[in-house]
Amino acid sequence: MGKIFIDACFGKETPYTPVWMMRQAGRYLPEYMAVRAKAGNFLNLCHDPKKACEVTLQPVDIVGVDAAILFSDILVIPDEMGMDLEFIKGEGPKFNDPITCDEDIDRLIGGDEAASKLTYVYDTIKLIKERLAEDKALIGFTGAPWTLATYMIEGQGTKTYNICKKMMYSNPELLHKILAKVTEVVKLYMQRQIEAGIDVVQIFDSWASAIEPGKYDEFSWKYMVEIADYLKERYPHIPIIMFPKGVPAFLDKVYGNFDVFGVDWSTPMAFAKERLGDRYVLQGNMEPCRLYSKEATTHCVEVIQETMQGKRHIFNLGHGILPDVPVENAKHFVNECHRVSRKK
Ligand code: CP3
Repeated sequence: MGKIFIDACFGKETPYTPVWMMRQAGRYLPEYMAVRAKAGNFLNLCHDPKKACEVTLQPVDIVGVDAAILFSDILVIPDEMGMDLEFIKGEGPKFNDPITCDEDIDRLIGGDEAASKLTYVYDTIKLIKERLAEDKALIGFTGAPWTLATYMIEGQGTKTYNICKKMMYSNPELLHKILAKVTEVVKLYMQRQIEAGIDVVQIFDSWASAIEPGKYDEFSWKYMVEIADYLKERYPHIPIIMFPKGVPAFLDKVYGNFDVFGVDWSTPMAFAKERLGDRYVLQGNMEPCRLYSKEATTHCVEVIQETMQGKRHIFNLGHGILPDVPVENAKHFVNECHRVSRKK
């Protein structure tokens, strides 16, 4: 049986528009919380292929999405480059020795040496592929080099990005050196994810909007395109989804060899369609907080359907689902996407 999700990524006609949700394997699901409690903490869960496989499949079984996304985190990459990741309760990710100079970069483990340390990810993928239904797709992912670099330079999440922006404007060569080293690891990491069995690649540039539009290509997009080129040259049958969050002013300048453009919730779907709809399939983009209300959800799904008309589209949220969303409302979203788009 073919996969509707893959057909949709390549712009082929499908019986309905497929849907998945960013962060669909997570804390809003009691079943996820139970497995995480058994694992002890979040990183242990990422390192345990059997448990990571189990939580990857939960949203497919419980919520009915058309694709599974590998359960892991973007920050396992800098962790395996030698940066020693911790997740602090209530605060999020933390690196104790952020990168400040050339020597720090030189000390990082690079290339295939870093990519080959992520065996638990590849083992998780193999297990998922044994258990995932034939008609569902498995999405593998990475953070964009820029989004990863923000954590590597700031040491944690940030509101102002002042440390990486100081580097951007006062020592851009240093920032490029970090981005280039991360890009090399990401290429090989995604190649290995594909070899392990993923069906689709998504590149998350969650902190794209922190860069001024005139600098976005130089410090982020071109590295994402370099990764896409590397993968497309070798695996043209694997669709690539780019998700740069919050860059409406860059839409007219988007270029590159990839298949799907992920639209975040701050960019109207019609606006993205006008600029990119002919060249790329569009994914998105309901404001995730609409999930608190079934009525608000239905209304938005109908408006998006009206705009996209079931063509060259994949339904998703415009960013990740939040932990306090009722599971029932997530199911409602998925059902509504299928209902409004099903071809008679
Ligand atoms: O989407 C999925 O269901 C797959 C799993 C996934 C996680 N993180 C699991 C996770 C994916 C694709 C990510 C990507 C990720 N991680 C991004 C990019 C996507 C985005 O949302 O913008 C970013 C920026 C991170 C970094 C990260 N991981 C942060 C800032 C945090 C803490 C904040 C938070 O939401 O808790 C995490 C932790 C994390 N990653 C959790 C999950 C399920 C929560 C951990 C827990 O169980 O407590």
